[in-house]
Amino acid sequence: TVDILLAALLGYACGSIPFGLLLTRIAGLGDVRKIGSGNIGATNVLRAGNKGLAAATLLLDLAKGLVPVVLAARLFAAPADMPAAALGPVPVAAVFAVLGHCFPVWLGFRGGKGVATNAGVSFGLAWPIGLAYGAVWLGVLAVTRISSLAGMSAVCGAAIVAAVLGYIAYLPALALIAVLVLWLHRENIRRLAAGSEPKVGSGK
Ligand code: G3P
Repeated sequence: TVDILLAALLGYACGSIPFGLLLTRIAGLGDVRKIGSGNIGATNVLRAGNKGLAAATLLLDLAKGLVPVVLAARLFAAPADMPAAALGPVPVAAVFAVLGHCFPVWLGFRGGKGVATNAGVSFGLAWPIGLAYGAVWLGVLAVTRISSLAGMSAVCGAAIVAAVLGYIAYLPALALIAVLVLWLHRENIRRLAAGSEPKVGSGK
């Protein structure tokens, strides 16, 4: 149990670092939460007008999901049996990294939407899940140019691929994350339904 708690703390501590906000502040672009969708993720950093910073936000937000999951696998004892494994240190670190990004204590629990962090988490859990995540994300983005739609597709795709490939111990964590990420995208979903969700590179 101590290992599970430490894994949760490690995940949350990494996930809650608001790289998008920090980088835009350091670059003197102001508060990214007052721009575009108000989100602190890479898509909105791009709207703040800086491609390099958006790429850095994407990579760092991805890393803060990957690192705690990989560390949890190395540092903490994993329960051997299948039902307990679903609540083991690795999936717990995964869920808490995304929770940290979405609800950072440092920003009054108002954080991002979890897409980049969950990409890192997916690669950390198992590379085939990560590859599927990346393929769906980039594929849908290439076809639609809509970041939120691509992100939501990848998040759901990762859970489906985990189930299909037999990563059953990770399925509850990935399914929980998918529900959370979809809920955080509820305004994006409304805009998508209304046909008003902006495309990447449209300058909106
Ligand atoms: O990762 C966030 C993305 O899916 C949507 O971002 O700023 O368009 O709401 P945004």
